[in-house]
Amino acid sequence: MPFDRYMAMALYEPGLGYYVNGLHKFGLSGDFVTAPEEGSLFAAALARQIDEIAEVLGEPYTILEPGAGSGALARDLLLGLKDKPSRYLILEPSAALRQVQRDTLSTLPSALQACVGWLDAPPEESFTGVIIANEVADALPVSIFEITDKGLRERCVKLGNQRLEWSLELPRPRLKQAFEELTQHLNEALPVGYFSEISLDLPGWIETISRPLQKGAVLLVDYGYPRSEYYLPARATGTLICHFRHRAYFDPFVWPGLTDISAWVDFSAAAEAGQRAGLDVAGFATQADFLLALGAHQCVEQAEDEQSRLRLAGELKRLILPGEMGEKFKMLALSRLADCRLSGMSERDQRLRL
Ligand SMILES: C[S@@+](CC[C@H](N)C(=O)[O-])C[C@H]1O[C@@H](n2cnc3c(N)ncnc32)[C@H](O)[C@@H]1O
Repeated sequence: MPFDRYMAMALYEPGLGYYVNGLHKFGLSGDFVTAPEEGSLFAAALARQIDEIAEVLGEPYTILEPGAGSGALARDLLLGLKDKPSRYLILEPSAALRQVQRDTLSTLPSALQACVGWLDAPPEESFTGVIIANEVADALPVSIFEITDKGLRERCVKLGNQRLEWSLELPRPRLKQAFEELTQHLNEALPVGYFSEISLDLPGWIETISRPLQKGAVLLVDYGYPRSEYYLPARATGTLICHFRHRAYFDPFVWPGLTDISAWVDFSAAAEAGQRAGLDVAGFATQADFLLALGAHQCVEQAEDEQSRLRLAGELKRLILPGEMGEKFKMLALSRLADCRLSGMSERDQRLRL
């Protein structure tokens, strides 16, 4: 089977896939720690950005969060926002994670709990508001192409001698076309032996989630690169990565269903999909620049006591240092707003790199 089909099964096969099997994934006792799981600094900075957008919107607004994980971001945003949304909608395909999110949000005051709802698909009716997706695009299935001396091939998965193995097949037409479009943007030909990922689902996903957004912004946070860096000839073995109990490794056939499988996001492709959906690219920044522009460091300075200051300083370091999440994570802002100036993009907007 093509790799994207395998990845979709390993992550989402009913009852068995990584995101749907009910096993614990997030935080120190799980497999990986996302920014909202680090503590409340990420959500506090994001709340400032959303408050600013809400002011421009000037009317009751909705937040739509696809892929809410443990629900930590939803909880901390609802607590931290000055201008509370009238609805906080969570688009979550995993029933097991919905239950985790319900448990997390049950600690909120009842007025805040009352505005939360769960969806299987983006709302049919249009809305004004903000769509926020943290580390969701990296979980979308990817296809893998490989350049061989016989031409372009697609990496597929087969059952070998009692174990899963790679097999190189002629690429499906969709992948072939996506690869041809990709090479038109690259300055150098990719060498024989090079393989990497293309998410055929990413453009459609962005268009689907943003379609009902009549007025507002989409904020996508993830690990990724602009296309010119993603497909550098030197990055010859792609970006696919697996996580199990805080160990990273690169063989996606080890313990399918028990380990996370993800790939870095091509932010140029994401920005173009946004534009095709009628959105403007309102900003692109590293997570560090985005959080610092929104004053994430001030929370540390304003800490009430020495113990909190040390805890927040550690959290801030993990969010912004280049060797941690600061540089590899990026924030892409797409907007459907006449005047969308975002404070989070004021430190160093890198839209020109897309
Ligand atoms: C790596 S987790 C990130 C969780 C959370 N946003 C965070 O930052 O902690 C990926 C999440 O995306 C969800 N997801 C995967 N595919 C999705 C899709 N097509 N639409 C919406 N959510 C999806 C998963 O079920 C999971 O909740």
